[in-house]
Amino acid sequence: MNGSTPFVPLKKAGLDPQAESLVRKIKAFKEERRALILAHNYQIGEVQDVADYVGDSLELSRYAATTDAETIVFCGVHFMAETAKILNPSRRVIVPDLKAGCPMSDMITPEEVDRLRSLHPGAVVVTYVNSPAAVKAKSDICCTSANAVKIVRSIPPDRPVIFIPDQFLGDYVQRATGRNLILFEGFCPTHMRIMASDIETARKEHPKALVIAHPECQPEVAMKSDVVASTSRMARAVQESAVQTVVVGTELGMIYRLQKENPEKEFIPACSTCDCANMKVNSLEKILWSLEDLSPEILLPGEIVEKARKALDRMLEVG
Ligand code: 13P
Ligand code: SF4
Repeated sequence: MNGSTPFVPLKKAGLDPQAESLVRKIKAFKEERRALILAHNYQIGEVQDVADYVGDSLELSRYAATTDAETIVFCGVHFMAETAKILNPSRRVIVPDLKAGCPMSDMITPEEVDRLRSLHPGAVVVTYVNSPAAVKAKSDICCTSANAVKIVRSIPPDRPVIFIPDQFLGDYVQRATGRNLILFEGFCPTHMRIMASDIETARKEHPKALVIAHPECQPEVAMKSDVVASTSRMARAVQESAVQTVVVGTELGMIYRLQKENPEKEFIPACSTCDCANMKVNSLEKILWSLEDLSPEILLPGEIVEKARKALDRMLEVG
């Protein structure tokens, strides 16, 4: 189903008294716990509004790596909180809900990395951050959707590259760099829902619209879009464009930030069922409880942290 009607944000500006009280308590606890709240661009509006920083995976990694806050409350999905812990292991990293996973991340295992390495000796393993810590620990370098092209370009052209786990981001990188990558068949079930026909219909209905899409979308969708970028780069592209109507080819939560930053523009979801249930399990209540209890906490074996850190540090150095 394509979204021919403008998007109505989940929560309009202005909180009800119960939410206001939760926000006051969160702020008080945050101070007491010397905590930093990070939220991904797909989080529900209330969660974005209470966060210290809202961003894409790369930006949130950088905030996590450099903060001197005692506790990081990570409002996103599990691999993002793990990444924060790996980059800043002396900090306590807590999440509002441990059940916020990422199906794409679950598609790849450390054993699969071993198998791919044995099939392609000498290859460099580039791992999208949407992956478990144990997989990062077996990788040479990580990437996010914001820097994947740059990371692959940094690898000498004579070295084969294994790109895991997202075949569609990998495909996008192949087209952008002109390099052949050894791809794994992982994908995002949420972005998979957007069809090329959705973009065609939206373009017919909104001929002047700017069409933005995430590189996790299927290649036919990416190729039909004007801007293919990470979530924060999409936000920048919208701010820099004079176009009034924007067709959004990514997870629906993104529209809250876009609408907030561009109240005069109209946002049309490319697909009105493109929502990631995992990104939506966090709430104000759960943030408050996690701050009260300092739990659930992300804990990782030291050996995994040490190895995964190398792949993430290499990424931050390059991209
Ligand atoms: P970004 O790094 O672009 O924010 O994307 C993360 C993600 O999970 C997209 O589905
Ligand atoms: Fe994972 Fe897709 Fe959800 Fe992003 S949108 S967290 S890739 S399932």
